[in-house]
Amino acid sequence: MSNSGHISQIDNLTQIRAEFPILHQQVNGKPLVYFDNAASNQKPLSVLNALDHYYRNDHANIHRGIHTLAERATEAYELSRKRTAEFINAAEPEEIIFTSGTTEGLNLVASTYGRKLLKPGDEVLITNMEHHSNIVPWQMLCEEKDLKLKVLPLRDNGEVKWELLDSMLTERTRIVSIVHASNSLGTINPISELSDKVHQAGAILVVDGAQASAHLEIDVQALNCDFYALSSHKMYGPTGVGVLYGKRKWLEKMPPYKGGGEMIKEVTLEKTTYSDIPHKFEAGTPNIADVVAFKTAIEFIDEIGKNTIIQHENKLLNHAHAELEAIDGLRLIGTAAEKVGVVSFVVDGVHHFDLGVMLDTKGIAVRTGHHCTQPLMECYGLEGTVRASFSVYNTIEEVDLLVESLDAIVKKLRN
Ligand code: ALA
Repeated sequence: MSNSGHISQIDNLTQIRAEFPILHQQVNGKPLVYFDNAASNQKPLSVLNALDHYYRNDHANIHRGIHTLAERATEAYELSRKRTAEFINAAEPEEIIFTSGTTEGLNLVASTYGRKLLKPGDEVLITNMEHHSNIVPWQMLCEEKDLKLKVLPLRDNGEVKWELLDSMLTERTRIVSIVHASNSLGTINPISELSDKVHQAGAILVVDGAQASAHLEIDVQALNCDFYALSSHKMYGPTGVGVLYGKRKWLEKMPPYKGGGEMIKEVTLEKTTYSDIPHKFEAGTPNIADVVAFKTAIEFIDEIGKNTIIQHENKLLNHAHAELEAIDGLRLIGTAAEKVGVVSFVVDGVHHFDLGVMLDTKGIAVRTGHHCTQPLMECYGLEGTVRASFSVYNTIEEVDLLVESLDAIVKKLRN
């Protein structure tokens, strides 16, 4: 944390909350309760200071200048790559590609690996709980290359029917792309248990880690995935930065994603040769300042410790489940045994949108709607849910306030 020293457990939430200036405000005359963390979480002072420091002291374009500022900016950017590789236990920094977010990471895999290595009749396998960013790029690829998109169905509690995996993997399956933690349900998928089967079938395993990366330990070597995509803005870091991890052997085989400066070794009017990885995939001037500040976000998470964060968010999740279930007519959507701190629910006879608006009048920020998972909503016969999602700075008292407020709103709307 910026100035606060080591915090080994969350026994001082006040200290952690003091790191987040945005939390200390009134919304609609009430203290803000921020439960829209799955959409984007808030940024600690250390990240704000890192951005400010970078622009005040070190900014220049990277990988091209010989002057001092250019060298400093390049060093800060590459240090961030190194720190990211350590954070997710990639074998080497070259396996880290900076993108604009998870969506771009998944599109990159579909557009390069998918376009180059898949053939008509090949299959891509996903689950029914995927975010649109892990559906649409594959649909686009399938249409373009005449592939088949197959979908693993769900149980009522929001777990995937993994017992069907064996029968859905065929000799034509080339890509299995699965969300690590569902943004709508909170379900954690058992990625490391799937990888052997996926690889034995001759496919690669792509993981959408957007919702997992701030809330679960991420070790890409232990997960044995081929690609892992994540977003900085869901990890206390700036918007507009993402990471695509890929195994070297695949990144080297893949063609570039975009053409332009910095991704080339040599350009003539007849022919271009490309840079080595990771630069081959980072054409143009990247989002330097935000990448640099992303390293500080990782340090924020590391200083508190993933285990401590997980324990704290589990406490909030279990408390929220127990208390919300007691509200008359409220139904939790997503009750898998293994979940991150995401609580989706609907209330009989009350539209999710109305609940969201009413909660906002009480200063409580939740997300309502389909959460970019329309096929998942369809499976439950719903248009949308109310979703409260937790981060390290949320408190049990805030969960109690959500429950009390909801109870009062539901009673009022029903009368
Ligand atoms: N994918 C983000 C969410 O779940 C935006 O809200």
